[in-house]
Amino acid sequence: MNMRLKLHIWRQKSASSSGRMVTYELTEISPDMSFLEMLDVVNERLIQKGEEPIAFDHDCREGICGMCGAVVNGVPHGHERETTLCQLHMRHFKDGDAIYIEPFRAKAFPIVKDLIVDRSALDRIMQAGGFVSVRTGSAPDANAIPISKENAEAAMDAAACIGCGACVAACPNASAMLFTSAKIAQLGLLPQGQPERNSRALKMITAMDAEGFGGCSNHTECEAVCPKGISISNIARLNRDFFKASLVGV
Ligand code: SF4
Ligand code: FES
Repeated sequence: MNMRLKLHIWRQKSASSSGRMVTYELTEISPDMSFLEMLDVVNERLIQKGEEPIAFDHDCREGICGMCGAVVNGVPHGHERETTLCQLHMRHFKDGDAIYIEPFRAKAFPIVKDLIVDRSALDRIMQAGGFVSVRTGSAPDANAIPISKENAEAAMDAAACIGCGACVAACPNASAMLFTSAKIAQLGLLPQGQPERNSRALKMITAMDAEGFGGCSNHTECEAVCPKGISISNIARLNRDFFKASLVGV
């Protein structure tokens, strides 16, 4: 059965203008639609009326690129566990529901327009150390480097992070520790990542602080909303690498 919904959506023309919640009454929404398809319908109807469509980020719509994201009824990516906004379906809502849709809010994520925020601060954390330095032409055969199954799997789990920023939006400190720790773990757990392991932690944490993200005080809200199930145990590992770098140098 098609649904009627009352949407309350944050509208803001630009970074410098002030925003407000605007209410839209919606009918004929199929429960088979994804959340983004539902927003597409809103936008088609706004365009038909000659009004400005709602700006929101998206790309793959398959839960793999990290582009989508908004706070739905107070939860980044909505209330379904380990689900990106693009993979959230309208069947998880009820006919007549009121839905509040807001952008991710963090000092380090300035609003661009409506539901779009600038998450390039996460790219700059990566640029500070989220890589392995290799001399071109000298890469050894991958099969010649033994890696324990346990470490390979933990590195693979950490590499599932899609850089969406929901962890930042959920954290009362707007900390990017879960994101940063996942990126550090995917390299630091493998032999190829060892030479720069401690300096990587120091550089990426320094970049995180410089971007205006807060520190971690173990609220664990990040883990609860992460669409990829990234564990906060990665933050513990990051803290150990960081302390080693600060105590014994890099
Ligand atoms: S840790 Fe999870 S919530 Fe944070 S950026 Fe990565 S995928 Fe998104
Ligand atoms: S649009 Fe790519 S993860 Fe949602």
